Amino acid sequence: LQHLLTLDGLPREILTAILDTAEPFTEVAEREVKKLPILRGKSIFNLFFENSTRTRTTFEIAAKRLSADVVNLNVSTSSTSKGESLLDTVDNLCAMQADMFVVRHAASGAPFLITQHLAANGRNDIHVINAGDGRHAHPTQGLLDMYTIRHYKQDFTQLTVAVVGDVLHSRVARSQISALTTLGVPEVRVIAPKTLLPAEVEKLGVRVFHDMREGLRDVDVVMMLRLQNERMSGALLPTPQEFYKVWGLTAEKLALAKSDAIVMHPGPMNRGVEIDSAVADGAQAVILPQVTFGIAVRMAVMSMLAA
Ligand code: CP
Repeated sequence: LQHLLTLDGLPREILTAILDTAEPFTEVAEREVKKLPILRGKSIFNLFFENSTRTRTTFEIAAKRLSADVVNLNVSTSSTSKGESLLDTVDNLCAMQADMFVVRHAASGAPFLITQHLAANGRNDIHVINAGDGRHAHPTQGLLDMYTIRHYKQDFTQLTVAVVGDVLHSRVARSQISALTTLGVPEVRVIAPKTLLPAEVEKLGVRVFHDMREGLRDVDVVMMLRLQNERMSGALLPTPQEFYKVWGLTAEKLALAKSDAIVMHPGPMNRGVEIDSAVADGAQAVILPQVTFGIAVRMAVMSMLAA
């Protein structure tokens, strides 16, 4: 792999290789083992043009555990506020000997644009990782979610998995569905109101439910999504209270899933909107382990790109 921009089109072997590579890194991520020298001498630039808590921080931790030098560009105080373009910013960071860019951007396709620009300038030695672009993709979130599912459930081919909520605006949902399908999950369900589903949802190879109780019945994994208010425009927006009443995951609704079902959420959570605190903090939630696994998975991706 030169770059990681999307999980679409990546074969099962590559997804599995990333998850397998992440396995031994969990000990390093959880600080049971010291740093590894894999990225010593490499400069990794975190370019987050959209806010982040989990992704930016775990990429930084992952890079440091691999002994890389990490630079977090503070976008709000950078010269982008004076009108400098994304590609001019990239060129200047290349002049500072960047080896890898981790990019989050509100515009779908921004990381791809950077890869095209680098290729046009003959910079095939520099790697780009998409850390979430618009509604398009969030591949490392999809991978850490697959790592989490494999950790708790082992065999993808025996599972029924439900992705619940605002699929329309969610780059996370796209990457999750893509990975679940590739890894052989026989039934991927999408549970959402019609207004929060993309027009082409049937083409994603999922079973669509518009009734949460029906959709949650006997599932092994519940993957909740946040209402992506920042990507919505006006009129059809439900209030948080209206949404919670119909689409919020409560203990009563979760009881319809298998008794050993796990509950996942990529964060940030909006308690009392898409998920009740009793579920978010309950025995079936694996939401914080997802975050921890994210370090090992990001270590795996960065080490594989740099190899
Ligand atoms: N899941 C996720 O992308 O969280 P952040 O926005 O905090 O990075």
